[in-house]
Amino acid sequence: MAADMPADKKTTPPRPDLFDLHGVSMTHYFTDNWEKIQNFQARPDDILIATYPKAGTTWVSYILDLLYFSQTQPDRQTSTPIHERVPFLEIMIPNHPSGTDLADSLDSSPRLIKTHLPIQMIPKSFWEKKCRVVHVARNAKDNAVSYFHFDRMTFIQPEPGDWNSFLQRFMDGKMVFGSWYDHVTGWWERKQSYPKIHYMFFEDMVEDTGREIDKLSSFLGSNSTAAAKEQIRHLVQFDNMKKNDMANYSSFDTMDFKISPFMRKGKVGDWKNHFTVTQNEQFDEDYKKKMKNTKLQFRTVV
Ligand code: PPS
Repeated sequence: MAADMPADKKTTPPRPDLFDLHGVSMTHYFTDNWEKIQNFQARPDDILIATYPKAGTTWVSYILDLLYFSQTQPDRQTSTPIHERVPFLEIMIPNHPSGTDLADSLDSSPRLIKTHLPIQMIPKSFWEKKCRVVHVARNAKDNAVSYFHFDRMTFIQPEPGDWNSFLQRFMDGKMVFGSWYDHVTGWWERKQSYPKIHYMFFEDMVEDTGREIDKLSSFLGSNSTAAAKEQIRHLVQFDNMKKNDMANYSSFDTMDFKISPFMRKGKVGDWKNHFTVTQNEQFDEDYKKKMKNTKLQFRTVV
C-alpha cells in the first residue's frame, strides 16, 4: 500500500457483500481461508470459545485468558491485545495474520481459540481431539441490537442499513454467520450429546459474574484460588474492560469507535431502547415459531 495514502484509506477495506455458503450467510473475510479452516489441526488441550457474534465472546475470552495465564504470564495482560491472545479462527483480513496462522503460531497451553461458526461448520479435528468448548449465547433482542451497532462501526461488516431493515434481516437469518436461531439451537443440541460443551448465557454473566466464573472454573478443572477468581471478577467488570486497551479492541484498525465503541453498554435489556411496540410484537410472534422445537430458553431482562 502506498506510504502517502491517507490513514483512513490504509485501514478501511471495502464493506463486503453477504453470500450464501451451504445455507449460512457469510462474507469473504470469513471464507477466504476456508480450506485451511476446515483442515485446521486442533490440539487436545485447545479450548474453543464458540459464540454467535456479539454474545459475550470477548468477555469470556478475557476470563479464560486470566484463569489460565494471569499467574504464570502476568506480562501478557499488559502487552498483548486479546485478539492476538485468542485467535479468531476464521478471520482473514488485509494487514493481519489469518486466524489459522495466528493459532498455529501459539505455543501456549492451552490455546484459546475463538469462533463464530455454526456447529456444522466447526473443523472436525476439534471433535476428533475431544476439545473442550465454551459456548456463550445471548438473548436474541439484545444480541440483535449489539450486532446492529457493531455493523455500523466495523468496516469489515456489511452496511447495517436502518434499524428496522436490520431487524428484519436478523429475523430472516441474513446476518454474517447466519441465523441466530439456528446458531444457538445448533450448539444447544450438540451439547446434549457432547458433554465437553459448557453452555453459558450472557444474562447469567451480567447477573452474577462471580458465580459464572466459578462454574466455568469447575468445568475447566481450574485450580484458581478464591482470591484469584475475585481478582478476575474485578478485572472483567464492564467499566474495567472498557478502560483496558488490551481488552477493548481499541487497537483493532477496522473499527471506528467514534461511531460506536466496541464496549458499548454491556447490559441486558437495551433492546427496550430500540424496539418499537410493533417491532416487538412481530419479533415475539416470529420467535415463537422459530424456537418452538427447542427447550433452550433466554431471559430478556434480569
Ligand atoms: S464479537 O465482536 O462478536 O467478538 O463481540 P462480543 O465480544 O461477542 O460481544 C460484544 C458485546 O459484549 C459486551 N461486553 C460486556 N458486557 C458486560 N460486561 C463485560 N465485561 C463485557 N465485555 C463485553 C459488549 O459491550 C458488547 O455488547 P453491547 O450490548 O453492544 O454493549
